Amino acid sequence: MMGQNVALAARLLAENKLVAIPTETVYGLAANALSEEAVVKIFEAKNRPAFDPLIVHVASVSDFEKYCTRIPENAMKLAEKVCPGPVTFILPKKNNIPDLVTAGHPTVGLRVPNHPLTLTLLGQIDFPLAAPSANPFGAVSPTMAEHVAQQLGNKVDYILDGGPCAVGVESTIIDFSTEKTTVLRLGGMPLEVLEEILGEKVETRTSSSNPKAPGMLMAHYSPGIPVFVGDIDELINQHVGKRVGLLRFSDWHEEIPFEKQSILSINKDLHEAARNFFSALRQFKQMDVDVVLAEWMPEVGLGRAINDRLRRAAASYN
Ligand code: TXA
Ligand code: MG
Repeated sequence: MMGQNVALAARLLAENKLVAIPTETVYGLAANALSEEAVVKIFEAKNRPAFDPLIVHVASVSDFEKYCTRIPENAMKLAEKVCPGPVTFILPKKNNIPDLVTAGHPTVGLRVPNHPLTLTLLGQIDFPLAAPSANPFGAVSPTMAEHVAQQLGNKVDYILDGGPCAVGVESTIIDFSTEKTTVLRLGGMPLEVLEEILGEKVETRTSSSNPKAPGMLMAHYSPGIPVFVGDIDELINQHVGKRVGLLRFSDWHEEIPFEKQSILSINKDLHEAARNFFSALRQFKQMDVDVVLAEWMPEVGLGRAINDRLRRAAASYN
């Protein structure tokens, strides 16, 4: 069932059921974060390994202290500027957050999502929401309610339809639990903006071998078709004889049929490109192509976050 009934969503969540929620980044698959009985359903529905921790969503920054033992000064400074918004804060957890949520880690990821329906929902319940992206494990993240219905329709009790996601890539995850502030996942909040607010350069550690971000597996975001990333003309030459689909930043390619191409932003706007990215990746499945050939985005702003996801989408094939 899909609709905009916030009261119904609140009631279902209070009954330990699963509700898909809209956020500014991607749709989440939400459950009561304080209830192990509810949270275990998220792992089952997504087929998600238990070592991959979930982000906990709260109504405002003032709720952080309910679920973490300490908020460093720079984390607070950033939170006051960017929340609600596409940033997840990794902080030392309190005992009220079940180990199942954090995959046994002593830290919890806290975030205030910026979507009016979900903020209203969070205001109507007296518990926080654990929510990973609402896709089967390893698949492309959903940026529209319809994507959730297609991928997890029969496994979720209600889909709160908040329209297309305004940002389109997941939150930037920042670890504030150790001495050195570290970005664990590039995402909807550009690195440049973070560094400007924090007044310092932050380390980026987003590799798949990093035990600090156990969910950052190299092979991820798979559209179900092989993806290759690089120089478009070179890639076309390497795949002669195959039916190719192109995923590009701003320019059409003259030698490939238009209906087999997806352009992320004619205006070369990285925000627009991020908003379109996951939908575009998803569309190739309907295009009757053998391979998806993609090009790198400019490595600035949200381009970094898109490139990170392209790298992972292509990882199983290279
Ligand atoms: O934008 C987003 O963050 C979306 C929306 C729904 O909020 N959520 C999302 O969740 O992308 P998910 O589960 O697809 O990715 C969350 C990632 C995990 O894979 C893990 O790497 C990291 O967040 N994470 C969560 N808690 C963590 C923790 N305590 N320590 C380190 N990494 C953590
Ligand atoms: Mg995900």
